Amino acid sequence: MEKKLSRLLIHTLSILPALWIGWQIWLWYSFLPHELSANPIEYITDFTGNWTIRFLLLTLSITPLVKLTKWRLLKYRRAIGLYAFLYGLLHFLNYMMLDYFFNWSLIIEDVLKRPAITFGMAGFAMLVILAITSFKFTKIKLGKNWTKLHQLIYILAISVTVHNYMMVKADVLIPLIHATILSILLLYRLYLNWSKRRERAKRQLA
Ligand code: HEM
Repeated sequence: MEKKLSRLLIHTLSILPALWIGWQIWLWYSFLPHELSANPIEYITDFTGNWTIRFLLLTLSITPLVKLTKWRLLKYRRAIGLYAFLYGLLHFLNYMMLDYFFNWSLIIEDVLKRPAITFGMAGFAMLVILAITSFKFTKIKLGKNWTKLHQLIYILAISVTVHNYMMVKADVLIPLIHATILSILLLYRLYLNWSKRRERAKRQLA
């Protein structure tokens, strides 16, 4: 019962930003007052991009939180990661549909010519791979390779943080906060790997 309630809470909180932006888009399309600023397309891109990074950082925070607090949060990691994918997909679709109207030659040119977009696209491609291999049966099928593949999340997080920093127009504070949180999480992961290796070496010597 407690597990069901916490799952419901996580899904409700995670879907709220998507419902809010959907509602604002509906108001905008109905020519009603909305909160999407004078440049709704840019607002939607920034909103969905920022929520993608937040969910990615949250996904990466689960293991450190479990280690430090012993809270049983691992069971929620996949759902939170998939919300990162959902917001990433909305961000990507917004760019493809509203920004470029599926003009493929312009999109390819943009990806090849603007390094910021190349970083974003590389990040999104990795996010798609992680989302489609997140199912239980792919985990079983891939065995040990699954863990190796899912280490991609670190490269993906670096790639989209660079994208975020390069895309932001004026204030770099938010991308810098994202980069700082990511650096702490990466350092903690390196520390965990180092202490695991040290333990193994100690056991072999004993
Ligand atoms: C998972 C992958 C991605 C993440 C996490 C992400 C994240 C972000 C973030 C946080 C911003 C906001 C910058 C700001 O606050 O001003 C942003 C902006 C932007 N992103 Fe992404 N992005 C991703 C992938 C992509 C892809 C694949 C594209 C297009 C091919 C793209 C195109 C853009 C554009 C055009 C902007 C600038 C919007 C504007 O202010 O006009 N992003 N992205």
